[in-house]
Amino acid sequence: MAVLAISLLLAALTPVQGGVKYPDCTGGPLRSNKKLANLVNNAPGISRLGLSAYQWWNEALHGVAHNRGISWAQSGQFSAATQFPQAITTGAAFDDALIEQIGVTISTEARAFANAGRAHLDFWTPDVNPFRDPRWGRGHETPGEDPYLNARWAAAFVKGMQGPGPTHRVVATCKHYAAYDLENSGSTTRFNFNAKVTMQDLVEYYLPPFRQCARDSKVGSIMCSYNAVNGVPACADPYLLDTILRKHWNWTDENQYVVSDCDAVYYLGNANRGHRYKSSYAAAIGASMEAGCDNMCWATDGTQPNAAAAFNAKHFTQQTLDQAMVRQFQGLVKAGYFDGPNGMYRNLGPSDVNTSAAQKLALRAAEAGIVLLKNDNNFLPVALNTTGTQAAMIGFWANAADKMLGGYSGTPPFRDSPVSAARTAGITVNFATGPLTQSSFDASAAVSAAQKSSVVIFFAGIDNTVEKESQDRTSISWPAGQLSLLTRLSGLNKPIVVVKLGTHMDDTPILALPNVKAILWAGYPGQSGGTAVMNSITGVSAPAGRLPVTMYPSSFTSAAPYTNMALRPGTTGNYPGRTYRWYKTPVFGFGHGLHYTNFSVSVPSSPETSFPKTFAIEALLSACKSNNTASYLDLCPFPSLPLSATNTGATASDYVALAFVKGEYGPQPYPIKTLAAYERISGIKPGEARAVELKWNLGSLARVNERGDTVLYPGKYTVLIDTPVLANLSFTLTGEEAVLDRWPQA
Ligand SMILES: *[C@@H]1O[C@H](CO)[C@@H](O)[C@H](O)[C@H]1NC(C)=O
Ligand SMILES: *[C@@H]1O[C@H](CO)[C@@H](O)[C@H](O)[C@H]1NC(C)=O
Ligand SMILES: *[C@@H]1O[C@H](CO)[C@@H](O)[C@H](O)[C@H]1NC(C)=O
Ligand SMILES: *[C@@H]1O[C@H](CO)[C@@H](O)[C@H](O)[C@H]1NC(C)=O
Ligand SMILES: *[C@@H]1O[C@H](CO)[C@@H](O)[C@H](O)[C@H]1NC(C)=O
Ligand SMILES: *[C@@H]1O[C@H](CO)[C@@H](O)[C@H](O)[C@H]1NC(C)=O
Repeated sequence: MAVLAISLLLAALTPVQGGVKYPDCTGGPLRSNKKLANLVNNAPGISRLGLSAYQWWNEALHGVAHNRGISWAQSGQFSAATQFPQAITTGAAFDDALIEQIGVTISTEARAFANAGRAHLDFWTPDVNPFRDPRWGRGHETPGEDPYLNARWAAAFVKGMQGPGPTHRVVATCKHYAAYDLENSGSTTRFNFNAKVTMQDLVEYYLPPFRQCARDSKVGSIMCSYNAVNGVPACADPYLLDTILRKHWNWTDENQYVVSDCDAVYYLGNANRGHRYKSSYAAAIGASMEAGCDNMCWATDGTQPNAAAAFNAKHFTQQTLDQAMVRQFQGLVKAGYFDGPNGMYRNLGPSDVNTSAAQKLALRAAEAGIVLLKNDNNFLPVALNTTGTQAAMIGFWANAADKMLGGYSGTPPFRDSPVSAARTAGITVNFATGPLTQSSFDASAAVSAAQKSSVVIFFAGIDNTVEKESQDRTSISWPAGQLSLLTRLSGLNKPIVVVKLGTHMDDTPILALPNVKAILWAGYPGQSGGTAVMNSITGVSAPAGRLPVTMYPSSFTSAAPYTNMALRPGTTGNYPGRTYRWYKTPVFGFGHGLHYTNFSVSVPSSPETSFPKTFAIEALLSACKSNNTASYLDLCPFPSLPLSATNTGATASDYVALAFVKGEYGPQPYPIKTLAAYERISGIKPGEARAVELKWNLGSLARVNERGDTVLYPGKYTVLIDTPVLANLSFTLTGEEAVLDRWPQA
């Protein structure tokens, strides 16, 4: 269909004299040298075909961003776009419908920019690498540490961005494929890091979000990463780019193109500080093209990749060149690039940007992702706008709206900080700033603000000058200056609420401070983050987010070398393992999150409604196969799990039902537990019981063996609802183990 569309286009542009005239690909406008010039992100186009220059590199991680392909107006229309929370905050919402709606809104605004000639149609987002190590400077760009969560988040986001089809609103790009989660650790950088990953960890942990994107969501593009995986740079790895991505996951040419991360091809050649995988830049280009990379992004380092020189030196073939062109053009066809002014989505314009619905969604998303970590004696919510009440708002981001956006941001339509939001809500505020990384700080203004006030709200954490692209942290401890100021304030005998920005720091020392009554984590809450935080504190909204990552103690960074990619604990030494699946002693665990109420959960137990106690593996598979229910066996549905959640307190609240599985089956060691299903239930009223059916599939129950095969094992399965556990049930799978996905070996 898409190939046909390209042929028709070319035919239409070629003078027709007595029958079909095929485009002249050797001497005509599509001859190799014109194609070769178009293998880069800043493609010059082919003027004789009416194809103008095209910038493939546009970003929209959490809203249309400032980036090469996008031109922003100084004022008025297209001077702003909705800035949602970063993925780490929306990941904490555990709400697929919300994520999809965010994707719809971002892509609608992006398309409006494109229609006005201010952006192109390809957006290199989302970032779905599992957040393996708390030091990672780009962890906040991802939904969290769990591959199942990231895969579901990716599915919802890509669906929202691309739309239901056949034309895509914009083309999304899942990045960074694969095992990319390190910027710099000593002399090891993302440009030269060789990630040593076992086949089991690769399939079980590093790849599921990409399988979701490519195989199941048919995302329009995949970005290969800077790092090498087991000795081969990802952008030159035919195993990752062809055997797995194109063949095993059936991501065909119609599903479009692979783009290199920017300068990745330069660094896989003979460049200083790179992999030195090939003896020249030209050979690196050839290796990358032949492996299945279709577009080479060049940022600033080295020189622009010279595809013509590499081609003339026979580092890649004509067939490879043509294939890359076809894949790129397929992408443009899918995005409706050739459809003319009446094409789908061409009607989107300036009135579709910064709508009141988008503004409300940005606020709701921020509220939904806030996590209540601690709340002694139900200190929160607290009314702050009552007569005589003054609130001290202290800290480096209390009055800094821009800090709440995080990396890859655009210009928001308006700015609200916690202080401005509080004043708008009629709260009397005593504001004092605080340190970010300074180790000593003059505390007098903060102390006097606190002394005048009845409640102290302390805005702590880190921002994206501390954690950012190309910069990892070396410590996950609280910055000394912040801790010493907070300790000082704690001595004043005022109740303190701590609100945290950025990704995690070890909260152990502040949990020991007697006057710290409550702790909220906001991540990077976006354009309405200040209002969302104040709404949560005052009870206008009720926090119900859950940690999408493990909060490790600061000793973790010395126990777990950053470059050690293994998920499982070591059998010798003190390597503690990673993520809630393996790590045993977190400060706060994955999934932790309190409410302004309590919930009880029950699994129906009457004989008619109870969940079956045994399932035969063979019957599960044959029902799925004979009814042709799923394209792949891991997607075969498993009977839904019916739950009922009751709000037993006095405050209406959302509730995230999390279902983990555990059990002694499959390869050892056994994980502590694995997230297998979740659903966010909104607005449960006091006293109300709400039923929900958690949907899952055979893949949710499977484990991965050392070969990388995904296997459904017989055994006793225990399902734990929530953390701490509010309900549980068990069932048994009987019969022989069954391979759901036989994994191709390297
Ligand atoms: C965004 O919308 C608000 C009204 O909701 C308006 O005040 C503001 O000027 C708009 N900003 C831009 C850049 O359109
Ligand atoms: C005070 O705050 C509460 C929420 O805590 C809100 O319902 C009320 O409208 C506010 N009153 C004023 C005067 O702003
Ligand atoms: C939740 O239940 C605990 C234990 O019964 C109780 O101490 C606490 O006050 C309850 N919280 C709320 C918000 O009702
Ligand atoms: C699937 O097929 C089995 C026979 O293999 C049949 O008993 C079952 O009812 C079918 N289920 C559905 C949902 O169609
Ligand atoms: C995936 O591709 C393989 C090999 O080309 C093919 O046999 C299989 O039918 C495809 N599966 C689906 C669901 O498209
Ligand atoms: C499961 O729930 C029962 C009560 O229904 C309880 O006795 C048991 O300890 C729970 N098991 C786990 C693993 O939480």
